[in-house]
Amino acid sequence: MKKRDISVSVDVYESRGEMPVELQNLVSEATEAAKSAYAPYSGFSVGAAVLMENGEIITGSNQENAAYPSGLCAERVAVFYAKAKYPEMAIKQLAVIALNGDEIVDPPAAPCGACRQVFNEYEEMQEAPLSVLLAGKDETLKIESSADLLPLSFGSRELG
Ligand code: THU
Repeated sequence: MKKRDISVSVDVYESRGEMPVELQNLVSEATEAAKSAYAPYSGFSVGAAVLMENGEIITGSNQENAAYPSGLCAERVAVFYAKAKYPEMAIKQLAVIALNGDEIVDPPAAPCGACRQVFNEYEEMQEAPLSVLLAGKDETLKIESSADLLPLSFGSRELG
Protein backbone atom coordinates (compact mmCIF):
# COMPACT_ATOMS: atom_id res chain seq x y z
CA MET A 1 0.00 0.00 0.00
CA LYS A 2 1.22 3.46 -0.76
CA LYS A 3 -0.12 6.91 -0.14
CA ARG A 4 -0.99 9.39 -2.84
CA ASP A 5 -1.33 13.03 -1.88
CA ILE A 6 -3.93 15.05 -3.65
CA SER A 7 -3.35 18.72 -3.23
CA VAL A 8 -5.00 21.87 -4.44
CA SER A 9 -3.29 25.18 -4.77
CA VAL A 10 -5.35 28.34 -4.39
CA ASP A 11 -4.51 31.99 -5.00
CA VAL A 12 -5.34 34.13 -2.01
CA TYR A 13 -5.96 37.84 -2.55
CA GLU A 14 -5.60 39.60 0.77
CA SER A 15 -7.84 42.50 -0.15
CA ARG A 16 -10.29 43.43 -2.89
CA GLY A 17 -7.81 46.01 -4.16
CA GLU A 18 -5.22 43.32 -4.81
CA MET A 19 -7.47 41.62 -7.35
CA PRO A 20 -7.56 42.53 -11.03
CA VAL A 21 -10.37 45.01 -11.70
CA GLU A 22 -12.30 42.41 -13.73
CA LEU A 23 -12.47 40.17 -10.64
CA GLN A 24 -13.31 43.04 -8.29
CA ASN A 25 -16.18 43.87 -10.58
CA LEU A 26 -17.41 40.27 -10.58
CA VAL A 27 -17.39 40.18 -6.77
CA SER A 28 -19.35 43.46 -6.69
CA GLU A 29 -21.95 41.97 -9.03
CA ALA A 30 -22.20 38.85 -6.85
CA THR A 31 -22.67 41.06 -3.77
CA GLU A 32 -25.46 42.98 -5.49
CA ALA A 33 -27.06 39.70 -6.54
CA ALA A 34 -27.02 38.41 -2.94
CA LYS A 35 -29.44 41.22 -2.09
CA SER A 36 -32.07 39.61 -4.31
CA ALA A 37 -31.90 36.26 -2.47
CA TYR A 38 -35.14 34.72 -1.32
CA ALA A 39 -33.86 33.14 1.87
CA PRO A 40 -36.54 33.43 4.58
CA TYR A 41 -35.71 30.00 6.01
CA SER A 42 -31.92 30.22 6.38
CA GLY A 43 -31.41 33.99 6.55
CA PHE A 44 -28.29 33.31 4.50
CA SER A 45 -28.21 35.38 1.30
CA VAL A 46 -25.86 34.15 -1.37
CA GLY A 47 -24.96 35.85 -4.64
CA ALA A 48 -23.14 34.43 -7.62
CA ALA A 49 -21.84 36.17 -10.72
CA VAL A 50 -20.68 34.40 -13.82
CA LEU A 51 -18.33 35.94 -16.36
CA MET A 52 -18.96 34.57 -19.83
CA GLU A 53 -16.46 34.29 -22.66
CA ASN A 54 -18.05 37.31 -24.39
CA GLY A 55 -17.56 39.47 -21.29
CA GLU A 56 -21.19 39.39 -20.22
CA ILE A 57 -21.90 38.92 -16.52
CA ILE A 58 -24.88 36.85 -15.43
CA THR A 59 -25.93 36.78 -11.79
CA GLY A 60 -28.04 34.63 -9.51
CA SER A 61 -29.06 34.38 -5.88
CA ASN A 62 -30.30 31.55 -3.72
CA GLN A 63 -34.00 30.86 -3.94
CA GLU A 64 -35.54 28.92 -1.08
CA ASN A 65 -38.89 27.21 -0.73
CA ALA A 66 -41.11 25.98 2.09
CA ALA A 67 -40.48 22.52 0.65
CA TYR A 68 -36.77 22.90 1.46
CA PRO A 69 -35.18 20.64 -1.20
CA SER A 70 -37.00 22.57 -3.91
CA GLY A 71 -34.79 25.61 -3.33
CA LEU A 72 -31.63 26.23 -5.33
CA CYS A 73 -28.21 27.67 -4.55
CA ALA A 74 -27.12 30.99 -6.02
CA GLU A 75 -24.36 29.35 -8.04
CA ARG A 76 -26.67 26.99 -9.87
CA VAL A 77 -29.27 29.71 -10.47
CA ALA A 78 -26.55 31.78 -12.19
CA VAL A 79 -24.83 28.93 -14.04
CA PHE A 80 -28.04 27.32 -15.30
CA TYR A 81 -29.35 30.66 -16.51
CA ALA A 82 -26.03 31.40 -18.20
CA LYS A 83 -26.00 28.04 -19.99
CA ALA A 84 -29.70 28.31 -20.88
CA LYS A 85 -29.03 31.70 -22.46
CA TYR A 86 -25.72 30.75 -24.11
CA PRO A 87 -25.58 26.95 -24.45
CA GLU A 88 -22.42 27.05 -26.55
CA MET A 89 -20.51 29.69 -24.62
CA ALA A 90 -17.81 28.96 -22.07
CA ILE A 91 -17.98 30.29 -18.52
CA LYS A 92 -14.65 31.86 -17.63
CA GLN A 93 -15.13 32.72 -14.03
CA LEU A 94 -17.67 32.42 -11.25
CA ALA A 95 -17.69 34.52 -8.07
CA VAL A 96 -19.68 33.69 -4.97
CA ILE A 97 -20.30 35.65 -1.79
CA ALA A 98 -22.65 35.16 1.14
CA LEU A 99 -24.28 37.77 3.37
CA ASN A 100 -25.68 37.27 6.82
CA GLY A 101 -27.84 40.37 7.09
CA ASP A 102 -25.48 43.11 5.91
CA GLU A 103 -22.34 41.24 6.99
CA ILE A 104 -20.17 39.37 4.49
CA VAL A 105 -19.80 35.77 5.64
CA ASP A 106 -16.18 35.14 6.52
CA PRO A 107 -14.36 32.85 6.01
CA PRO A 108 -16.15 32.79 2.65
CA ALA A 109 -19.00 30.48 1.73
CA ALA A 110 -17.91 27.61 -0.50
CA PRO A 111 -20.16 25.92 -3.07
CA CYS A 112 -21.96 22.74 -2.03
CA GLY A 113 -21.18 19.38 -3.62
CA ALA A 114 -24.10 19.56 -6.05
CA CYS A 115 -22.91 22.93 -7.38
CA ARG A 116 -19.36 21.60 -7.75
CA GLN A 117 -20.69 18.67 -9.73
CA VAL A 118 -22.48 21.07 -12.06
CA PHE A 119 -19.39 23.28 -12.53
CA ASN A 120 -17.32 20.21 -13.29
CA GLU A 121 -19.51 18.99 -16.10
CA TYR A 122 -19.61 22.38 -17.82
CA GLU A 123 -15.85 22.73 -17.38
CA GLU A 124 -15.30 19.36 -19.04
CA MET A 125 -17.66 20.33 -21.87
CA GLN A 126 -15.96 23.62 -22.56
CA GLU A 127 -12.46 22.15 -22.33
CA ALA A 128 -11.26 25.34 -20.66
CA PRO A 129 -10.96 26.20 -16.99
CA LEU A 130 -14.01 27.37 -15.14
CA SER A 131 -12.37 29.31 -12.35
CA VAL A 132 -14.09 29.97 -9.02
CA LEU A 133 -13.70 32.95 -6.67
CA LEU A 134 -14.77 32.65 -3.05
CA ALA A 135 -15.10 36.14 -1.66
CA GLY A 136 -14.82 36.82 2.05
CA LYS A 137 -14.69 40.10 3.91
CA ASP A 138 -11.10 40.89 2.97
CA GLU A 139 -9.60 37.70 1.57
CA THR A 140 -10.76 36.17 -1.67
CA LEU A 141 -9.71 32.69 -2.72
CA LYS A 142 -9.29 31.92 -6.41
CA ILE A 143 -9.51 28.31 -7.52
CA GLU A 144 -8.21 28.11 -11.08
CA SER A 145 -10.20 25.09 -12.14
CA SER A 146 -13.49 23.83 -10.74
CA ALA A 147 -12.02 20.29 -10.98
CA ASP A 148 -9.92 21.33 -7.99
CA LEU A 149 -13.11 21.72 -6.00
CA LEU A 150 -14.13 18.14 -6.69
CA PRO A 151 -11.15 15.82 -6.47
CA LEU A 152 -11.58 12.11 -7.13
CA SER A 153 -14.71 12.69 -9.18
CA PHE A 154 -15.72 10.13 -11.80
CA GLY A 155 -13.04 10.07 -14.50
CA SER A 156 -10.88 12.59 -12.73
CA ARG A 157 -7.14 12.93 -13.24
CA GLU A 158 -6.44 11.93 -9.60
CA LEU A 159 -7.60 8.37 -10.19
CA GLY A 160 -4.63 7.19 -12.16
N1 THU B 1 -26.34 28.34 -0.47
C1 THU B 1 -25.98 28.84 -1.67
O1 THU B 1 -26.78 29.46 -2.38
N2 THU B 1 -24.69 28.67 -2.08
C2 THU B 1 -23.70 28.13 -1.32
O2 THU B 1 -22.56 28.09 -1.75
C3 THU B 1 -24.01 27.63 0.02
C4 THU B 1 -25.45 27.57 0.37
C5 THU B 1 -27.71 28.59 0.00
C6 THU B 1 -28.62 27.41 0.05
C7 THU B 1 -29.63 27.87 1.10
O3 THU B 1 -30.59 28.70 0.49
C8 THU B 1 -28.80 28.71 2.04
O4 THU B 1 -27.65 29.10 1.32
C9 THU B 1 -28.41 28.01 3.32
O5 THU B 1 -27.76 26.83 3.09
